[in-house]
Amino acid sequence: MAAPQISPSILSADFARLADDVAAVSGVADWVHVDVMDNHFVPNLTIGLPVVQALLKHSALPLDCHLMIEDPDRWAPQYAEAGAGSVTIHAEAAKAPIRTLRAIRAAGARAGLGINPATPVEPYEDLLGEIDMLLLMTVEPGFGGQKFLDLVLPKIRRAREMIKGRDLNVWLQVDGGVSAETIERCAEAGADVFVAGSAVYGADDPAEAVRRLRAQAER
Ligand code: DX5
Ligand code: ZN
Repeated sequence: MAAPQISPSILSADFARLADDVAAVSGVADWVHVDVMDNHFVPNLTIGLPVVQALLKHSALPLDCHLMIEDPDRWAPQYAEAGAGSVTIHAEAAKAPIRTLRAIRAAGARAGLGINPATPVEPYEDLLGEIDMLLLMTVEPGFGGQKFLDLVLPKIRRAREMIKGRDLNVWLQVDGGVSAETIERCAEAGADVFVAGSAVYGADDPAEAVRRLRAQAER
């Protein structure tokens, strides 16, 4: 398993000061998590490709783009081509996930597959060789600040076993309700990349919040 990585979600940052809020965690975080929502796949609307393109010029950290959109097959490769370090598409939305994941990798980004809390992971086992990261949602996607769903913990364990069983270097990301209270449970279950929005940007000192989360994940 890889060393724990922290990916602060700018969904809980100040959208009018994104570059500053990214700078606040540069040097301590591993990634910046960017939640792209289209008001179709999820009932919320955030930012899209133009903002990601602009942010790339101002971010010292690689962008971890999480596409909660209805048509990832069309859009995901463009985020990779723009220079995102990682692009995650949702299993529930992609119509041609293998083609899209391959296009993300071909454009030089890490390819991620996202899975909602109620979606089983087993049907996607054969795709593990096509991805660099599996994202398990630990809340229903769409909003920051929701309560962590403990019912996903067994799926995190099963996913870690699947990855181990195939001897693959696939990162296992958890997203939603990850905080000082829940991160140890996620790490113990086998997660190694931790998205945290409100736990980082809701704190007085976001950099210190990232350091603390990492220390807890390393325990
Ligand atoms: C929710 C997003 C998350 C969100 C997490 O759909 O995918 O990345 O920002 O926020 P917290 O950490 O506050 O639950
Ligand atoms: Zn996210």
